[in-house]
Amino acid sequence: MCGIVGYIGNPERTIGVLLNGLKSLEYRGYDSAGICVVSEGERNTVRSEGKLENLKIKIEDKQITAPTGIGHTRWATHGKPTENNAHPHSCGPVSIVHNGIIENYSDLKEELSARGHEFYSDTDTEVLAHLIEEQYEDGVLLEEAVLKGFERVEGSYAVAVLSENEPDKIVALRKFSPLVIAESENEKFIASDVPAILPYSKNIIFLEDGDIAVITSGSIKIYNYSGQEIKRDKKLINWDPVMIEKAGYRHYMLKEIHEQPRAILDTIRGRFSESEFTVEFEELLKFNSKDISKILILGCGTSYHASLIGKYLIESIAGISTEVDLSSEFRYRDNVIDDKTLILSISQSGETADTSEALIAAKEQGAVTIGLTNVEMSKIAREADFTVYTKAGPEIGVASTKAFTTQIITIYMMAVYLAIKRKKIDKDLSKDLIRSLISLPKLMQVALELDSSIKVLAKEFHTYKNFIYLGRGINYPVALEGSLKLKEISYIHAEGYAAGEMKHGPIALIDENMPVVLIAPKHGNYFQKIMGNFQEIKARGGRIIVVTSDSSFQNQLGKDDRIILIPECSELLSPLVTVIPLQFLAYHIANLLGTDIDQPRNLAKVVTVE
Ligand code: G6P
Repeated sequence: MCGIVGYIGNPERTIGVLLNGLKSLEYRGYDSAGICVVSEGERNTVRSEGKLENLKIKIEDKQITAPTGIGHTRWATHGKPTENNAHPHSCGPVSIVHNGIIENYSDLKEELSARGHEFYSDTDTEVLAHLIEEQYEDGVLLEEAVLKGFERVEGSYAVAVLSENEPDKIVALRKFSPLVIAESENEKFIASDVPAILPYSKNIIFLEDGDIAVITSGSIKIYNYSGQEIKRDKKLINWDPVMIEKAGYRHYMLKEIHEQPRAILDTIRGRFSESEFTVEFEELLKFNSKDISKILILGCGTSYHASLIGKYLIESIAGISTEVDLSSEFRYRDNVIDDKTLILSISQSGETADTSEALIAAKEQGAVTIGLTNVEMSKIAREADFTVYTKAGPEIGVASTKAFTTQIITIYMMAVYLAIKRKKIDKDLSKDLIRSLISLPKLMQVALELDSSIKVLAKEFHTYKNFIYLGRGINYPVALEGSLKLKEISYIHAEGYAAGEMKHGPIALIDENMPVVLIAPKHGNYFQKIMGNFQEIKARGGRIIVVTSDSSFQNQLGKDDRIILIPECSELLSPLVTVIPLQFLAYHIANLLGTDIDQPRNLAKVVTVE
């Protein structure tokens, strides 16, 4: 949550680099924004409530140039999203931007107040500015004051600090919140995440917890909290800056929906052998799958829905008992895990606090942990015993799409890998499973052609106030995901249910004002059952949108019902096809309603608070 940037270099470029950086970090929060720049003897702070555009307009009037600057885009935790609470926060010559939460801020604030400090905001961050200022006496360097000031600070933070007295310097430090640094000729860059500095350099330094970086125009020096200099290697990040542009699409979300076949190909490439019909995970070489008696998958939001699908995949392919938990629930209950439990933590960002803390807690209890994430060097990637990466590329739209499908395909491959390792399946079965995997991107491509017909469908349905999504078996979590997509970006109330549960409650809601999205690919047992649900809804006057691979369904529809025909696909991989029309439906309804699709209200893409 919250994005921070910093820059030292060409005074004419500072504002542009800061604003561009903030633009690409807006997915981390977008309720207010601000910058602070310094040059010899002068410091300028501009802050604004609301979207970054408001800040830009304010800055345009001012014609500011300065070689050094920091910036922030906020997702409010302490204090309302007002200009007064927007970062940077300042005290004396010191200004600071912060991502994270200071847990003991009220105690610290009270102590500072008793010593005569006066506060203007409701934020925890302002306390940090005062703590540093208090230590920043004559002859003390900014980094020394920062270190001293942070001695009693508890919580999570990534911060960038500058001072009017040392205009060629930014001090950055991190604990539990990400921070990356890079340099190009005569320029230095700091950011919460790689996309903000990718246009300038692909060689990235990832700070680790407890690192403090002192960045000047001439050098980047990194120390630990005891003041010893340490070395952090640069890592080459192969994301192309073009990947973080919209490529002609109106929204990132639409671009990312269309990128799914490519993302799946990138994720499966090099993992399976077409001749041997095997799956390989080099990163799991040292993982002894034979010792595992149970798997527990953890995730939040869309990653939780991928986890639910993971249960079906692992139990059905590898025959290993698998449970799924919301990361936020797992942590605070008495759970029964041991060194025979494999924890699979799933997170697009790799930074979600609920999931990373759950993983750490499980590790402490002796479980073996695998992190499944899309972001290299993210917290989960660093904490897990083993890390497997999805190759979705940067996902910018807050509503997750291609991360979801690449997570599912990776779990599918892991299930095949485990099944082969544990001798659960024979060659013929692994052949079938791998053939289905290979044919998937093409089937997804066919599903993507539904875009324009669903746009038309959305016109008929965008005025409804409530929706129900029903699915069975492996498509039950798709019902949850479809309803989450609609909620997130259109603000329409939507419920996802296991279709078999409808008769135990939700059926009471059915009438002509409640469209029901029925996910019914034509597969064995489930299909007949879901036909039964269809009839039950019809009998109660409900309006149905059915997502199916069976064109004969058409004959059953009433005049107000609609059919979305998807290509046939293996049952286990069907969620990767059925979810596509649901992503489009949510997108086009939200578009008609004029919501902010890539940055829906109250949400953030990376949630680093518990
Ligand atoms: C936030 C996002 C969701 C996402 C969830 C988990 O709530 O808005 O889209 O699914 O976090 O994120 P993760 O990065 O852990 O997958």
